[in-house]
Amino acid sequence: MSGKLSRNLVGGVGHSVPKYAINETCSFSFLKSSKMGPSPSLSVIKSENAKISFQYTPVAVFVGGTSGVGRALAEAFARYTKGNTCIIIVGRNRVAAESIIASLPRAGPSVKHEFISCDVSLFKNVRQATSVILAKYAKINFLVLTTGVLEFARETTEDGIDRTMGLFYYSRWMFIHELIPALVRARTDNEDAKVLSVASAGLGGKINLANLWLKNTSYVSFLQSISTYNDLMVDGFAFHYPSITFIHCNPGWVRTPLGSGSSSLLFRIWSFLVNSPWSPLSYFPYSPEDCAENQLYGMLFTASKPSAWRIGQRGNDLGKQGYCGDEVARDVLWEHTLEVTGSK
Ligand SMILES: NC(=O)c1ccc[n+]([C@@H]2O[C@H](COP(=O)([O-])OP(=O)(O)OC[C@H]3O[C@@H](n4cnc5c(N)ncnc54)[C@H](OP(=O)(O)O)[C@@H]3O)[C@@H](O)[C@H]2O)c1
Repeated sequence: MSGKLSRNLVGGVGHSVPKYAINETCSFSFLKSSKMGPSPSLSVIKSENAKISFQYTPVAVFVGGTSGVGRALAEAFARYTKGNTCIIIVGRNRVAAESIIASLPRAGPSVKHEFISCDVSLFKNVRQATSVILAKYAKINFLVLTTGVLEFARETTEDGIDRTMGLFYYSRWMFIHELIPALVRARTDNEDAKVLSVASAGLGGKINLANLWLKNTSYVSFLQSISTYNDLMVDGFAFHYPSITFIHCNPGWVRTPLGSGSSSLLFRIWSFLVNSPWSPLSYFPYSPEDCAENQLYGMLFTASKPSAWRIGQRGNDLGKQGYCGDEVARDVLWEHTLEVTGSK
């Protein structure tokens, strides 16, 4: 354990090429079980997570940590490290963030938790939030990205991008890109540096390199493309920054308020039914807490060395399951994203 997480050997040697590159199967199903690598039981996962301990005080940023999966991951991280983690929550809902932060344990006065307000749908806001974070933290050990909405409507932002794509892809890419110096610095100091993008690993589809804006695509094709964009995002960053661990995960179906703010009545009713304790639908999804256990395990134990990883709903390694990318697509999307986000 490289100074770092017990049991999680993070060697200094990275991989210049992501560990998977060629598509074998492309398929899509919301409820598809994503088990490929071994999936330990939840009780085993919890007992492994309980062994987490760091020889330093990690800095962990949760973009989308005001609700649902992001919130549960922030809480689990703080609890398992016994308050020895600086937690930074990024989002719009200040009231929710302050209530979460007030409930998080702190190991001592040197451990600080804080909220950074940011509507991530605009590039200028992402740049501002990341510059505030970089001004305060020279090192970042964990960056967790969970922003999202359930939305049929296609709305163009002042940056000229689709708002949903902004939440699921462009803003996530920008957070990683802007915060890379702090992640690299953590690795240089022989500490962990890991990025987790919570979206839909294993549910990707082929993408059209001539239509990276996803104009006039069906909703299913749009969702499949977003999954593949996240695969290619972790591939691209792992290729350019081989000392860091980049993960795209699928959390499975989780009981969260996702969809409650949607413009679609269908999604709002769905969200209500999933979250109502009297609804039979509420029994099927993972609780946010169990999802957080699975994904914490995936991030800390399954993704055991610097590379690009795809993790399933039980924290298991997905390998190439549902992977629809290749090196050409990775590089074309990388260039497109540099240009669209003004990061060239
Ligand atoms: N729940 C599921 O069953 C499920 C299944 C598969 C994948 N996922 C994915 O997992 C991720 C987390 O979902 P969740 O279920 O935890 O949803 P959630 O509870 O609704 O959380 C979504 C988070 O995104 C943030 N967010 C939304 N729009 C934002 C914006 N414009 N600027 C900044 N932050 C914004 C929200 O924060 P503020 O309100 O503070 O802005 C909130 O913290 C999403 O990407 C989702 O697609 C979820």
